[in-house]
Order: sequence, then C-alpha cells, then structure tokens
Amino acid sequence: MRKQSESAREAERSRDVQAAQLRPGSRRSFIDRLIGTGIGGIVLSALYPVVQFLIPPATRESAKASVALSLAAEDVASNTGTIFKFGSQPGILVRMPDGELRAFSAVCTHLGCTVQYRSDLRHIWCACHNGHFDLNGVNVGGPPPRPLDRYGVHVLEGRISVSRDL
Ligand code: FES
Repeated sequence: MRKQSESAREAERSRDVQAAQLRPGSRRSFIDRLIGTGIGGIVLSALYPVVQFLIPPATRESAKASVALSLAAEDVASNTGTIFKFGSQPGILVRMPDGELRAFSAVCTHLGCTVQYRSDLRHIWCACHNGHFDLNGVNVGGPPPRPLDRYGVHVLEGRISVSRDL
C-alpha cells in the first residue's frame, strides 16, 4: 500500500515536471521555438534561390536613346564582340566576319544574364543556360523565348555611337 502511494506520488511529480517544461516561457518551450525557427529559416533559404530562378527578374529599360562608345571603329576587330553600357543595361557590339558592325541588347531574353560573343561559333551565346542567338539577334537555341533587341550603329569620323532606332 505504501509502495503504491509512493509510486503514485512519483508519477504525479513526473507529470508536474513535464507540465512545467511545456508551459509557455519554459526552457523547453523556448528550445522548441528556437529549433522551429531554425528549420523555418533553412527551408526559406533553400526556397529563395529556387523562386528567383523560376520568376525572371524585372529588367528596366534605359531611358537613353543613344550612347557614344569610347571605341574607334578601326579598333574593333572582325569576328569579335564588345560589351558596352547603354544606360543601366549592357549592350553588345559585334563586328561581323564581313566587317559590318551590329549592336544588340546584351540582356538575355531568358532570365536576364549578360550574353557574350563566341568567335568560335560566330554567334552570340548566353552561358547561363546555353542560349544561342544568331548574328541577327534571333534566338536559335536553348531556352531564350525571343530575339535580342537590336540597336542601330552609326560611325561618324571613326567614332561609334549606338541608338535604339535602327
Ligand atoms: Fe540566358 Fe538563361 S539567362 S539562357
């Protein structure tokens, strides 16, 4: 009989300790919240880049209508591409193998990476997801959904300027 009452008291004490640990503001409740917050933070930090990849960044158009490049036309070699700044966006100036100069927006139409000229392929390429554009700026391979915007190129007294109108 005495043994039974001792074990009943022991069980009651154990329940009291557990109840105290689960009470709001207790150490155990604090640790549970800390772990929950940590797991939530890990899940959010893993999801953020995935969402960034799936939702393309908004690209703002430069307000500038034209830009003078610091390049002399004679310094641009055949079968090369040069990145330049058109307002806040990159552009690419390409010297065609036949000598003609062409310019395009260098913002890939897929997810906005900066494209580059590949002299080995003789076309414009985006390294991010292997997007390909021909020398008219037309998307010819990979995920880009539309052509690059084309710009006009003007050479006056050996100096190059690029404008939005062709
Ligand atoms: Fe250019 Fe994806 S951003 S191919």
